[in-house]
Amino acid sequence: MKITFFSAKPYDKESFVHANECYGFEYEFFETELNAATAEVIQNSIAICAFVNDQLNRQVLEVLATKGVKIIALRCAGFNNLDIEAAHELGIRVCRVPAYSPEAVAEHALAMIMTLNRKTHKAYNRVREQNFSLQGLLGFNLYQKTVGVVGTGNIGKAFCRMMLGMGCRVLAFDLVADKSLEAEGVVFLPLITLLQQSDIISLHCPLNEQTTHLIDQQTIPFMKKGVMIINTGRGKLIDTKDCIDALKTGHIGYLGIDVYEQEEKLFFKDLSSHIIQDDMIQRLMSFPNVLVTAHQAFFTKEALEQIAMVTLDSIEKLGKGEPPATNGALVV
Ligand code: NAI
Repeated sequence: MKITFFSAKPYDKESFVHANECYGFEYEFFETELNAATAEVIQNSIAICAFVNDQLNRQVLEVLATKGVKIIALRCAGFNNLDIEAAHELGIRVCRVPAYSPEAVAEHALAMIMTLNRKTHKAYNRVREQNFSLQGLLGFNLYQKTVGVVGTGNIGKAFCRMMLGMGCRVLAFDLVADKSLEAEGVVFLPLITLLQQSDIISLHCPLNEQTTHLIDQQTIPFMKKGVMIINTGRGKLIDTKDCIDALKTGHIGYLGIDVYEQEEKLFFKDLSSHIIQDDMIQRLMSFPNVLVTAHQAFFTKEALEQIAMVTLDSIEKLGKGEPPATNGALVV
């Protein structure tokens, strides 16, 4: 069976070629993203493998169906880029990798907190220029601070445990309270109460109708002045413009984002010699208290290995009409 990959970077190829030693699929790799135009290149592929910013709307799915594609394997956890109804109608099976390494993402959220707080990125550059002054590097103890976690699934749970380990008071909001976390000391509260009490808020819920712009001009006023917001979930969980306004007034004291509302045009590309047309990201990057990483929270060796193995296992199983891999999940 042939698998056509979109948005395939050298590191994707490496991990999938390695994992394929156990399977023997035929591969075709395209570095370009999947959209209605690029979908036209597919030939003789029953399965395609897509990533977070590939377009899987109705128009693209219709092209895929005419090309004979029966399986879409998302090599990621989120599936907000998929038109589920259209995939269902067209009889295309879609699988994903729900929990390839929750710790990878949770650890990146922690790294963002520590960088924003202790300013290690500034210290690194400063010391290399023989500037050993501490002026401007003042941080705060994370110990005993209140951390609010929105979404306590695989990643949120791992993050809660890390924060408990740092000696923080951990509050959480989810549709259903997690008994095991409660037993470990996490306190589940309504969203607004969490926003009111937290020094740091970290988002780990999926993007959907209810969570779109969860952080915006309506919810920011409930937060403590100087709050730190960390978003490793999806860009649209926060209204970027409203966050910029709150950064300007100082209501938001720190912002760490690994995902961005308009990341499709920017992330995973080297644009260092281009003129960026997106004024919002340029404004964000001009703040000294904002840290942007380009959707790299998942990016660990262990996570890539797990993603490749589970994806191939799911494709093989779906190809035989069986349920996906044990660590995989069916979306449609
Ligand atoms: P999960 O499905 O295990 O957990 C999501 C949790 O959010 C569930 O407990 C669910 O009940 C909760 N939730 C759903 N709607 C909610 C709402 N309206 N308010 C509060 N909580 C709500 O997902 P997982 O694996 O923990 O991933 C979370 C998100 O992280 C993914 O949807 C994805 O968007 C993002 N992600 C980002 C990565 C990155 O590299 N930056 C990598 C992997 C995932």
